[in-house]
Amino acid sequence: MPFCVAIDGPAAAGKGTVARAVASEFDLAYLDTGLLYRATGAKTYEGLSPIDAAQSLTADDLARDDLRSGDAGQAASRVAAIPEVRAALVDFQRAFARRSGGAVLDGRDIGTVICPEAEVKLYITATDEVRARRRHAELIASGEDVSVEEVLENLRERDERDSARAAAPLIPADDAMVIDTSDMTIDEAVKIVAQIVSQAMAAR
Ligand code: DC
Repeated sequence: MPFCVAIDGPAAAGKGTVARAVASEFDLAYLDTGLLYRATGAKTYEGLSPIDAAQSLTADDLARDDLRSGDAGQAASRVAAIPEVRAALVDFQRAFARRSGGAVLDGRDIGTVICPEAEVKLYITATDEVRARRRHAELIASGEDVSVEEVLENLRERDERDSARAAAPLIPADDAMVIDTSDMTIDEAVKIVAQIVSQAMAAR
């Protein structure tokens, strides 16, 4: 079984930054699974049903430049509650998680559904306020005109929907290590996770 790092957690907890940094440090492939749901949601704007959108995803869909907005996040969270949408995206994610060179995946159900046998399972979280401030700074930097309060509202709504759904809800795997990054810089979080990954690799 190739080496797999599963990183789950609520929106804007720093999962993506940590996952990308660790993948690069240990030369592992990286998949941002939220992008699959964001691209599926974005395709529904063009009139496709969520299920058709998920079944017909292409690499071009994942490269759209409108996938990082707050609206795309909401659309992603809505289509992600549909079991047939999740089913359409499972095989691709499982195959990615089992790549021979090893992989890091981040999302909501990686440790619970996509790669339950992952050597490293993390649940990265932070308080609502800290997550909203971080995401607000990102959105402002990318040119979106939005207030911290709006971002906070958006995150809370998404987390509630993602946690309450019946299909693969947002929940830490029983054997996941929970890391609260509220009082850390992203660099500190990356360091801690890199140490965990390094120990797990040495113990193989
Ligand atoms: O990680 P993100 O914020 O880009 O994810 C956008 C939405 O996609 C999120 O609100 C829920 C959904 N999602 C999911 O249901 N399962 C995943 N593995 C990843 C994302």
